[in-house]
Amino acid sequence: MTVCSAPGKVYLFGEHAVVYGEPAVPCAIERRARVTVEPRSDDHVRVAAEDLSLDGFTVEYDGSTETQPDVDVDQSLVSAATGYVDAAVRQAREAADAPNAGFDITVESDIPLGAGLGSSAAVVVAGIDAATRALGEPIDRREIARRAYRAEYEVQDGQASRADTFCSAMGGAVRVEGDDCTTIETPNLPLVVGFDGGAGDTGKLVGGVRELKESYDFAANTVESIGDIVREGEALLAKADPEADPGPELLAELGGLMNFNHGLLSALGVSARSLDAMVWAARNAGAHGAKLTGAGGGGCIVALDPTPETETALSFTQGCVDAFRAELAIDGVRVEAT
Ligand code: PMV
Repeated sequence: MTVCSAPGKVYLFGEHAVVYGEPAVPCAIERRARVTVEPRSDDHVRVAAEDLSLDGFTVEYDGSTETQPDVDVDQSLVSAATGYVDAAVRQAREAADAPNAGFDITVESDIPLGAGLGSSAAVVVAGIDAATRALGEPIDRREIARRAYRAEYEVQDGQASRADTFCSAMGGAVRVEGDDCTTIETPNLPLVVGFDGGAGDTGKLVGGVRELKESYDFAANTVESIGDIVREGEALLAKADPEADPGPELLAELGGLMNFNHGLLSALGVSARSLDAMVWAARNAGAHGAKLTGAGGGGCIVALDPTPETETALSFTQGCVDAFRAELAIDGVRVEAT
């Protein structure tokens, strides 16, 4: 039995624009997906999913991973949960040169599904690491990130950047610009997350931004301006002492950029009433800045606040179902048990 875990993430800056080659800075957070893998003697794959914002269920299907499992729950939910696991299994089989390897897989996650916190990337990253290790063919984190990106790309019909998978594999803060992915040093930022209980349709939201961008120069300029915000944000982080707590000045500057970034995402049509309500609740509570994180349309916001005020204000905000402090996850994917 091999257990690996990988963190979720928030975007400090740059979602959506990253799809068009602008840089983005996601940060890994201490909310993890844990994947347990036990090799089987046949070529079947059995997946038990817990806490995936679904009622727990177990499915077993043959090794082709093309047969849809026959279970008594909404098929789209099953596809959502098993699609990523399937893709991770394909990558692990290929990496280990074991095309007929079968597995019993258990997925547990405390990252809300589809809410902008990188739940699918964390499952895929932890799954590839656990499955290749279980086959005795471990691969390094960059290779896990590369394969996890391929898995996401496949499941999401090409609508994926390398941001989520690279960040989840490496941990900490990272910078992604096209195929160029690097880790960056950052002080321990006081991140607070608010969750509206919902999820956005990433494909539809990305499609909407693409359409605006193709129709209007000002929308294309907005996407480029998000890139400018990211570059400013990176410069601030590069100047900061990664060992020291960030002072109020740095937080105010970063927060101002986050607020601007949220405004531009709003202009591109990817915010939502619930997300705006949480963003304003955070700002009114004294957060240095707040923005939606991920695809938008619903899901999560991230705010910067070293005090407990934002978390408290969010927990009383209509439409916010969960508010929590999100510690930066220093570790990316890691082995929990063998
Ligand atoms: O909602 P998430 O965490 O999957 O983030 C989507 C981020 C986008 O930039 C909109 C798409 C992408 O793949 O980068």
